[in-house]
Parts: sequence; C-alpha cells; structure tokens
Amino acid sequence: MESERSKVTDMEKKELIYDFDKVVDRKNTYSTKWNVKEGELPMWVADMDFETAPEIVSALSERLSNKIFGYTDIPKEWYEAYISWWKKRHDIEIKREWLIYSTGVIPTLSSTVRKITSPAENVVILTPVYNMFYNSILNNGRNVLESRLIYEKGRYSIDYDDLENKLANPQSSLMIFCNPHNPIGRIWSKEELSRVGRLCLENDVWILVDEIHCDLTFPGKEYVPFLSLDDELINNAIIAISPTKTFNLAGLQTSAAVIPDKSIRHKVWRQINTDEVGEPNAFAIDAVTSAFGKGEKWLDELRAYIYNNKCIVEEYLNDNIEEVSLVYSEATYLLWLDCNKITDSSVKLAKHIRKKTGLFLLAGSHYGPGGECFLRLNIACPKELLYDGLKRLEEGIHSYEKTN
Ligand SMILES: Cc1ncc(COP(=O)(O)O)c(C=O)c1O
Repeated sequence: MESERSKVTDMEKKELIYDFDKVVDRKNTYSTKWNVKEGELPMWVADMDFETAPEIVSALSERLSNKIFGYTDIPKEWYEAYISWWKKRHDIEIKREWLIYSTGVIPTLSSTVRKITSPAENVVILTPVYNMFYNSILNNGRNVLESRLIYEKGRYSIDYDDLENKLANPQSSLMIFCNPHNPIGRIWSKEELSRVGRLCLENDVWILVDEIHCDLTFPGKEYVPFLSLDDELINNAIIAISPTKTFNLAGLQTSAAVIPDKSIRHKVWRQINTDEVGEPNAFAIDAVTSAFGKGEKWLDELRAYIYNNKCIVEEYLNDNIEEVSLVYSEATYLLWLDCNKITDSSVKLAKHIRKKTGLFLLAGSHYGPGGECFLRLNIACPKELLYDGLKRLEEGIHSYEKTN
C-alpha cells in the first residue's frame, strides 16, 4: 500500500494539464444521476462528474457548428479509431470486419440474447454483477443462472466447479461476463479468462464479454483483453466495447461489438439492425474518433485522479469508519464497500444513509446474490464532492449502528 501511495504522489508532481477538481453544476441538464432532492449527493450510477476531455468538446462543438443534424453513416475513421486505440493501448489487432456499430453495450447484450438464445434458455452470469445484465436476460424471457463469486479476505475469485455445473446444464446457451468486473473492480487474469472461455467452449455456450470499463484501470494496471486469448476461444466470443464509460460520454449512446467468428457476427449484426440499434446519432462518430484519437493524455490523468480518490477513501475508512472496509480492486471508479460487520441488508443501510444524510448510494443487493452486505460507491468526482460524500457516509454508518 505504501509504495502504491507514493506512485500517486509522483503523478501529482508531474505537470498536469486537466482540471479534475472543477465542480460542475449538472442539476439543470436532465442528468439521471443528479435527479435527486435538494441537498442530496448522488454517488450511485456509473457516470462521472468530470467534464469530458476538451479535445472531445472541441470536436463536438465543430460538429454542432454545422447546424444540420441529419442521418449519419459509419465512416472508415470510426473503424480506424477502434483499431488504432486497441493496438496502441492494449496491443490487440482488431480486424476491421470484426467491428459492428451499436448504440450501446446494453443494446448489444439484449440483441445477442434475443438472437442466439431461445426463450426459457439459461444465460449464466457471475454474481454480484452489473444489474442491467439481469434486465437484458429477463426482459427477453430467458432465465438467469447465477454462479456466485467466492469472497474471501476481501478478494473475489471464481467458483469453477459451480460455474462448470451451470454451463453444463443443457439449457445454458450464453454466458455474459464482465471484465473488468462491475461492481467488484477486478481485472480477470489471462488464466482466469482462458479457463472461463474454455468451459464455455467445451459446453457449447457462447460468451459475451462486456469490456466497457477496460480503459479505467488504475495507474500501472492493464486489463487483459479477451481478444488476447487463443483463436478457438475468441471465435466463441462476442466482445462489447465503447469509449463512453472511459470518457464520460454515456449520453451519446455509441459502442461497438467485436466478433471474430463470421457466422455469429452476421447473426448478431442482423439482430442489432432488426432492433434498430445499429445507427449512430449525429455526434456519435465525432465523439468516438476524438476520444480515441486525442483523449489519451486526458485519460491517463483521469486514471491517476481516480486512483488518488480511491486512496483517499481507503484512508478515510481506516481512520473514521473502521467497520466498513474496501474490497480490493484494480479498475473502474466504482468502489465496493464491505458492510458485513454492520448489516445483513444493504437496502436498509442505503435507505438509512440517504434519509439521514442525503448521500445516494446503491445497495449491493441490486447486483444479485452475494451483494446483500455491500454498498457501491462511485468516486468519479472532484475531491470536494468526495470528501462531502465520505463525511455523509460516516454520519450515516454511525447513526445506523446506533439505531439497529
Ligand atoms: C459493465 C457495464 N456494461 C454496460 C454499461 C452500460 O453500457 P451502455 O451505456 O453502452 O449501454 C455499464 C454502465 O454502467 C456497465 O457498468
């Protein structure tokens, strides 16, 4: 821990270009996150309170100045932006023909569920996991088959025996996998990815890998792309990626599916088009090309800032809220707070904290079995808001203990 902290101090000493300390009033922008009562502080949905990179703002302003917002094609620049980013940042060669445009990762998930599984079949997930996976499965009349992650000494791992069992069920036809994993913030290792990928292949189960958080790793940490695995494993996979989490562009609704296998690619492409989620809005292309083309420096400063925020939280918990501990993580701006010592109902606890202090956090039980005693905290905000949130958390936890 000591050495990790000094890394941040080194980053802080470097000359910084971007101002992540700036507090922006988002209240009158129809923001989903900030649709809260006066005085409340939202630290829930995965959306950052930082202005996006000025390089992206310039590109979008230029597009705006054209003043005509008609239908938009997907140009070669869009393909090149993904291909060169993955080559440069992750040393992965994405072939142009593997890329499919989609308006979002969740639309890709839902279209894939509709196309390659049948009603009443099972879709396997590792819980606790991003709650929208449930929606994509259940809203389409498929079953969720949960394999619960093992939680031991503040760290998570996969229960392979249980997972194998669930994948071997003849009704299982798809697994949806998150890497890095929201909400626990783990980057899965190559060995873990290969093992899961192989279990899927051996059991004739497709794997859909959601890598939307892949660029939000802590300084010095790199995610392992599923595309770095053996050909036979990647040919059994659908990968969902996007710059929207990384660069705070979620409201622009743009993403890509990467599908190496030709026949499954055609099927998913057909469904994305049938579902009418295959066309960009007027700002989507410029958002992607400017983010991947010019956003690298901004991103690296952002990652250092988020990591520093995580260290602040860890220190604050140690000093002031000892009964809550931080789960080990390597990526994302979502922290997973272990509240086992004080509650067996994160819903009750989150409700109490909101009512008492105005701090809006999500209860861990939203993320499925295994989340009952956890809270998810979004730390992608200026330090001033973070400290405000931590003080409210302290008040909320201590008053909860007194009343329960
Ligand atoms: C793991 C994960 N996948 C997908 C999404 C949403 O993706 P999109 O907005 O592209 O549908 C989120 C948003 O929080 C997420 O955390």
